[in-house]
Amino acid sequence: EFADYIWPGMVVNPEKILSLNDMQLGPDDVVIASYPKSGTTWASEVLSAIAHDGDTEMLSRIRMDERVLWLELDDKAWWIKFFYIWKNKIFSNSATNAVPKKRICFTHLPLELLPPSILEGKCKLLYVARNPKDQAVSFFHFHRMARFLGMQTHTSWNEFFPLFCSGFLYCGSWFEHVLAYWKFTQNNPQAKFICYEDMKRDLMAEMESLEQFVGVPLSMEQRVKVVKHCSFDSMKDNKMANRDGVMLFNEKISKFMRKGIVGDWKNYFTVAQSEAFDELYQEKMTGTGLHFEFE
Ligand code: PPS
Repeated sequence: EFADYIWPGMVVNPEKILSLNDMQLGPDDVVIASYPKSGTTWASEVLSAIAHDGDTEMLSRIRMDERVLWLELDDKAWWIKFFYIWKNKIFSNSATNAVPKKRICFTHLPLELLPPSILEGKCKLLYVARNPKDQAVSFFHFHRMARFLGMQTHTSWNEFFPLFCSGFLYCGSWFEHVLAYWKFTQNNPQAKFICYEDMKRDLMAEMESLEQFVGVPLSMEQRVKVVKHCSFDSMKDNKMANRDGVMLFNEKISKFMRKGIVGDWKNYFTVAQSEAFDELYQEKMTGTGLHFEFE
């Protein structure tokens, strides 16, 4: 435990988080922040495409982990990346890498642990949120498949549900994470808050507003290409972005690109769980001005 949170020590640890305090980010940096399983990878591919002027062929030649860095990933975890690249033979062709217009990275850190340069508004901050019921289901599958989270593969949904509600898990309480960022993005012109469900409903419209946010406008033709490139089906088959073959993932249990839909929670929540969660949701969210779509 560090700062009252649980960390998966194999990939994220306090020393690395503390070392980020010296990190200098500037106006050409965009940081994507999210509670895990909110659509981080999806938003990363969209923003990365914008930063590369819609050049989806270029994106397909460079692994996503090179284009979008995970801020708090422990430097000692280099071997995980090494085996990932070697096992899957996904070598980027660095000779042809174009320099993107913006440098993009992502983080799952709770707001209060962000490096000061982000909190001071020196760079852009994009927060991606997802309705907490789908988020919980996605996180449940991820807990069973991601070996670094230390949960047993046979853990049931009924065992995971109270854990999620209590917030005693990696990244803490969903409510606290989201609401801290929600407040921050409301008061900071350098920050923006988007939802998975909005991307799902109209990715083109979300893209246009993201282009404005980062100051890189695309043509309609480029946009159409990027929307197609970032659909769930094409990202699922895109080995540069789908995170297949990460040795710390047990793919017999679940794929990283699992379902990519809104409303899967209905296949997991019992009526009693749904009602209990609605009550908790009302208690925490009333008066915040933040609303989610659940289907
Ligand atoms: S992580 O591990 O925190 O970085 O995961 P994250 O990327 O935030 O979330 C993973 C979920 O996002 C889904 N996903 C997508 N949905 C729709 N379209 C696209 N292109 C897409 N890419 C990823 C992914 O399938 C996970 O959700 P679930 O519900 O588990 O399928």
